[in-house]
Amino acid sequence: MEPMSKAEIDLPFVHRGKVRDTYELDGNLLIISTDRISAFDSIFPNPIPRKGEVLNRLSLFWFKKTRDIVKNHLISDQMPENLKSVQGRAMIVKKAQVVPMESVVRGYLTGSGWKEYKEQGTLAGIKLPEGLKNGSRLPEPTFTPATKAESGHDINISVEEAENMFGKETVDFIKSKAIALYNFAHDYLLTHNLILADTKFEFGKTEDGIILVDEALTPDSSRYWLMNQYEKGILDSMDKQFLRNYLEQSGWNKEPPAPQLPEEIINKTSERYLKAYEMITGEKL
Ligand SMILES: Nc1ncnc2c1ncn2[C@@H]1O[C@H](COP(=O)(O)OP(=O)(O)OP(=O)(O)O)[C@@H](O)[C@H]1O
Ligand SMILES: [Mg+2]
Repeated sequence: MEPMSKAEIDLPFVHRGKVRDTYELDGNLLIISTDRISAFDSIFPNPIPRKGEVLNRLSLFWFKKTRDIVKNHLISDQMPENLKSVQGRAMIVKKAQVVPMESVVRGYLTGSGWKEYKEQGTLAGIKLPEGLKNGSRLPEPTFTPATKAESGHDINISVEEAENMFGKETVDFIKSKAIALYNFAHDYLLTHNLILADTKFEFGKTEDGIILVDEALTPDSSRYWLMNQYEKGILDSMDKQFLRNYLEQSGWNKEPPAPQLPEEIINKTSERYLKAYEMITGEKL
């Protein structure tokens, strides 16, 4: 498959995110995972070979595995004749009315959860035991919702605030499904030498009720840690850490435009994504 920075498809255009391009197809949505990569909030000029395919296939893998927990938007991963160029990196999904809430579940304390705990001793407003460290496993997986910000970073909110914004019944349902999904994936991944530190889901309303939409349990929406690194106290993300480490010493000031990446970094990053796919699914791509 040729690396792709931008999908150019002859269909009504809906949305371009950092990584995925969305079009409308017969009343449904066509979500194409390109090979774009972002770090420190900038998108890089070079595509990462196979990355889009890895992300798309990982979402597919999880959508199929978790259907019994909650219905999801997947209709098909088989492209019609005129869309064969995106076969493998695209899926056709049911359009939903997205609940504008990032449904984050954390099993381990890190990132913005760690920041809140350090400053206030709480997580999503709930008091936690003292003495936890960056990377500590939480007493139980915790739902820490955020609102989808138009630009920049999401804003963490308490469950109560989420209930006031989106309705208690909706939030209760999403919270229980998000935690069930996290638990299922976390326990599965432990047997694959990976730790799922946290992950983010989106849900949408349809005439069939509330379903899982967007992407599922990809390295873009989740923190995956290598078990053998975690045991040594290292919390590197398995996909982008290599790129981030390179950028930290490259002299780039982290302001856009993002610089061209050297061939070696592109190839190593591509290998990381393929490795992630293999570890998660137990299959070669
Ligand atoms: N089944 C669906 N029905 C309607 N909208 C959906 C569905 N699945 C995903 N979406 C929406 O499509 C958009 C996909 O955008 P995408 O994730 O590519 O970019 P983004 O969220 O704008 O930015 P980022 O790249 O930071 O995630 C999101 O707004 C998501 O909520
Ligand atoms: Mg998104």
